[in-house]
Amino acid sequence: METHALEYAFVRGTEAAAIAAGRLVGLGDKNAVDGAAVEAMRTALASADLSGVVVIGEGEKDEAPMLYHGEEVGNGKGPSLDIAVDPIDGTTLASKGGPGAIAVIAAAPRGALFRTRVPYMEKLVTGPAGRGVVSIDVPLEENLRALARAKGREVADLTVALLERPRNEDLMRAVRAVGARVRVFGDGDVANAVYAVLEDRARVDMLAGIGGAPEGVIAACATRALGGEMQGRLWARDERDEEIARGEGLRIGRTLTLDDLCASELAIFTATGVTDGEFLDGVRYRRGSAFTQSIIISSYSHVIRTIDARHDLRPRNATGVPGASSAPRHH
Ligand code: FBP
Repeated sequence: METHALEYAFVRGTEAAAIAAGRLVGLGDKNAVDGAAVEAMRTALASADLSGVVVIGEGEKDEAPMLYHGEEVGNGKGPSLDIAVDPIDGTTLASKGGPGAIAVIAAAPRGALFRTRVPYMEKLVTGPAGRGVVSIDVPLEENLRALARAKGREVADLTVALLERPRNEDLMRAVRAVGARVRVFGDGDVANAVYAVLEDRARVDMLAGIGGAPEGVIAACATRALGGEMQGRLWARDERDEEIARGEGLRIGRTLTLDDLCASELAIFTATGVTDGEFLDGVRYRRGSAFTQSIIISSYSHVIRTIDARHDLRPRNATGVPGASSAPRHH
């Protein structure tokens, strides 16, 4: 399958999810937002020319009817891929009508993506300047000094994005202690990781802290495609999470390199805005149509492409012509 067609197949998936979930923005029902996005994304992916297996998805088959771990997606006619989906990153944001919710699909060749059921991961993400410079195993202060040197800037000029959670407070203190700036966000660490890697329009220099592990693997695809740096360490809330890791032959706290998270240089990341954010505009609806904004980041075709689309939502007749009636009308 042609690379562009593959990338567009994923964009159609994130667009469909965003359009479906966007209708429910602000209605206060997180599960409905997620359900609408999952269903629309799954339908869009079903006919795509690819042979994908969901490795990061909605959980186990018994609990999630769709896009569950191990589910095959695509029509089986294209490349063999690992697929990582986050139908909505920021479901709470979307359900409350807050900014920055996005629909996301990432992919890499089959077998390349890290698999775990452990829910949380500590992450350290930077743009290309951080490669060979930062290490998740040293104190954050040291990483900030090293990154500032590599970028030819002062530590005080750097901004670190942190998910605002009690578990990240030590890191917040560390950033303040060294005199760098903090940008906290309440939800959505996929978009914030991408901000850190997109150097030309980066709003932050680094993402640090403990967030979702699935979001970590998805961010690794974008980081890979952009030539950035990312490291992680699985994090356990309790004995149960440790048990999950043991069962998978993984160790909590072990350093995961970008190679561990996404073993291939080839990776695709696509996202569509659901609610307005700094990264992408949210969905707008007009009579019979919807407008979306999406991004493709891909090392398959070495491109970062932003796509503004207008979708004709009018019902179609049997020949696929929107809005027209299939039979002549008699008055
Ligand atoms: P969902 O929209 O999938 O719930 O994720 C939102 C999010 O903020 C992620 O971006 C982040 O990695 C994770 O939740 C953090 O989890 P928690 O809210 O449990 O701290």
